[in-house]
Amino acid sequence: MNALIEKAAEIIVKSKNLIALTGAGISVESGIPDFRSAGGLWDKYDPSIYATIEAFHKMPGKVWEMIFDMIELTSSAKPNSGHEALSELESMGLIKSVITQNIDNLHQRAGSINVIEFHGNALRLICLRCGTGYGLEDYRIPERVVPLCRNCQRILKPTVIFFGEMIPQRALFESNFLAESADAVLVVGTSAVVYPAAAIPEVAKQNGAFIIEINLEETGLSENITDIFLQGESGKVLPGLVNSVKSLHGKGKG
Ligand code: APR
Repeated sequence: MNALIEKAAEIIVKSKNLIALTGAGISVESGIPDFRSAGGLWDKYDPSIYATIEAFHKMPGKVWEMIFDMIELTSSAKPNSGHEALSELESMGLIKSVITQNIDNLHQRAGSINVIEFHGNALRLICLRCGTGYGLEDYRIPERVVPLCRNCQRILKPTVIFFGEMIPQRALFESNFLAESADAVLVVGTSAVVYPAAAIPEVAKQNGAFIIEINLEETGLSENITDIFLQGESGKVLPGLVNSVKSLHGKGKG
């Protein structure tokens, strides 16, 4: 494992356009269970029933049961050492951007600046009829009161992207551009089964990027395109990787 970490660190230090793609796994050590592991959100709520935009239109009150749980988990969580390690790599000038499928704000709270929210954010609300945006603080979310638009009384939706919804145009455009120009990608804590997010490392690989993957278990990427697979919890593996990067970075400068 140490040899693999050192190899990954060398690639990171030499890179000119390193990006990260993160998924729910990076926030597990912050107490937010991922979606597809046992005990995850999709164990409790069948995504085909609760997480589609059609379901939200047809039965928003029922879908809000899941959203309340989602918000409760994310708003009480704090960034962990994995988020902090990625933020440190950005402040060292190594990571150019973190593309996250997470909706929990934890990268931003750890200090990452260039964060692309590919699947939106659970902490902002929007009215699908008039487009007015609201913060959670405007509503009685902890008491599980379904929030209504102040203009048209319609039930609000979090800006989270539901299945069947378009990825925000800007996030999609910027991520494609970054994937095409990346020379290395850190893929952290994602099962990489949901597209188009899962295409980001694939596009980068086609353009010659190194793929470094950190996950508890192998994924479809590991078998097909990953160059270095670092198995373990991201909250432990990422700080170790940053330490290796720092010692190489120091040598490079000296
Ligand atoms: N460290 C590293 N990896 C971990 C950890 C951890 N501590 N804990 C779990 N994992 C890994 C799991 O092994 C799994 O491969 O993280 C991955 C989480 O996968 P998913 O639950 O499928 O989450 P994600 O890939 O982010 O899902 C993508 O699917 O349902 C939609 O919109 C939702 O953004 C989400 C998208």
